[in-house]
Amino acid sequence: MKKIAVLTSGGDAPGMNTAIRAVVRRGIYKGLQVCGVENGYKGLMDGDFLPMNLGSVGDIIHRGGTFLKTSRCEEFKELKGQQQAMVKLKNEGIDALIVIGGDGSFRGAKRLNELGMPTVGIPGSIDNDIEGTDYTIGFDTAVNTAVEAIDKIRDTAFSHERTYIIEVMGRGAGDIALWAGMCGGAESIIIPEADYIMEDVIDRIKQGYERGKKHSIIVMAEGIGKSIEMKKEIEEKTGFETKVTILGHIQRGGSPSAYDRMMSSQMGAMAVDLLTEGKSGVMVGLKNGRLTHTFFTESQKEKNNVDLSIYNLARSLSI
Ligand code: ADP
Ligand code: F6P
Repeated sequence: MKKIAVLTSGGDAPGMNTAIRAVVRRGIYKGLQVCGVENGYKGLMDGDFLPMNLGSVGDIIHRGGTFLKTSRCEEFKELKGQQQAMVKLKNEGIDALIVIGGDGSFRGAKRLNELGMPTVGIPGSIDNDIEGTDYTIGFDTAVNTAVEAIDKIRDTAFSHERTYIIEVMGRGAGDIALWAGMCGGAESIIIPEADYIMEDVIDRIKQGYERGKKHSIIVMAEGIGKSIEMKKEIEEKTGFETKVTILGHIQRGGSPSAYDRMMSSQMGAMAVDLLTEGKSGVMVGLKNGRLTHTFFTESQKEKNNVDLSIYNLARSLSI
């Protein structure tokens, strides 16, 4: 193996740049040539290769986003698109590929691996929703961004004696909501992985009110999609002024936290090491506090297993 390529795909996440840096530097350290691919699988199909040297990844360790850019590319889901990418990879003399992305990106990575391009994945997504790993790059920063926002909203909620429903990212996954809700001291956390009863949400607000707490915070995962409906119901049933704040893409940007930088550096280096050891068709992951790797699965689905003990603890601490 002489030449490897790295790309970022799907939703960006803070720490992706740190992971690219680690791949490039570890690759060069191991005597490999390293190329970046711009714009994810779209760039791969178009042959947008960018030769990398040590300096190419200087001054990016602390930057959010991905300097290689990213894309969502429907054409790549078809065999024709994957074959087109294979031709570009061969023409460029690439021997192996590293894909930094989420579960969708790994379904694509698995296809390339099956077509004969040794491929390793690095989990990058703020959602922390990838099967085979307890952590994804960017999750820590996104949670910290959300908690900082909740703290600020709490200040104004207190001053105005209001209830706030704060919607955080996570289309199908509630981990950002769970962590941000727990760390932000929310009265209720609403996630797709756990059923909620509206009466319980309302009782918690009323109980707080009765003991003198005139503001409340509810953290809801984006995937629930009911923040406006819930606001109306709370106002109707409690008479308390209720506001909705949707944090949105602010959670995807910003300088990666120290933890995200540490993990991205280790995962990036490990991805290169796996390739040089002859391993492919695998994703780097963190399991029970240890770096590990697991095979891409046929479904490569989103995981749906938030830690419900944290959910239950949060409920018992926010009575
Ligand atoms: P993420 O990787 O963050 O989950 P997406 O689900 O949007 O993001 O996937 C990113 C890209 O991965 C898609 O735009 C597509 O190019 C590729 N991809 C997703 N699913 C598949 C699939 N089943 N086969 C091949 N490529 C896929
Ligand atoms: O990266 C994951 C994620 O942020 C989800 O939480 C969110 O639903 C989705 O991406 C939004 O992606 P976009 O707005 O880029 O399509």
